[in-house]
Amino acid sequence: MNLIDVLIQQHRDAEALFEAYRNAPDEEKPELCVRLAEALTMHSTIEERWVYPVARSVVDGSRIDFAVEEHGEMTQLLAELLRARRDVPRREATVRELEAVVANHMAEEEREVLPRLRQVDAGAFGLSSSEIVRSASDARREAMRQLDASSPR
Ligand SMILES: [Fe+2]
Ligand SMILES: [Fe+2]
Repeated sequence: MNLIDVLIQQHRDAEALFEAYRNAPDEEKPELCVRLAEALTMHSTIEERWVYPVARSVVDGSRIDFAVEEHGEMTQLLAELLRARRDVPRREATVRELEAVVANHMAEEEREVLPRLRQVDAGAFGLSSSEIVRSASDARREAMRQLDASSPR
């Protein structure tokens, strides 16, 4: 699959996870928080390492700087979500905030960034989309260790 389509699919997968979270019984929610953190960390890693550097050639750099800031905000919310995953009111408040930030960020990417990247030659990303997904999943394991370091299982 083309890398841009992989990213868009990951956006839909993230939406599906938020939806699953909403419908899940309470005892499954802590595990869904972990799955959300894994999926979003993996996705942000792919964008920051392989996509955003190339996007700077087709989109105004300040838009990409802002997108990176939003990723930072999501990372902080994910760390908070993992810490709070067994504390129902804190967890629910954090999920709501995270979902709003993520929905807004993904919509803007799909409107302003990803369509323009379709003009870029696939070789510009340096690796094939399956190689990128593979290396990002290694990076995700490390990022999850750091995110999760301070939270109880
Ligand atoms: Fe992003
Ligand atoms: Fe994205």
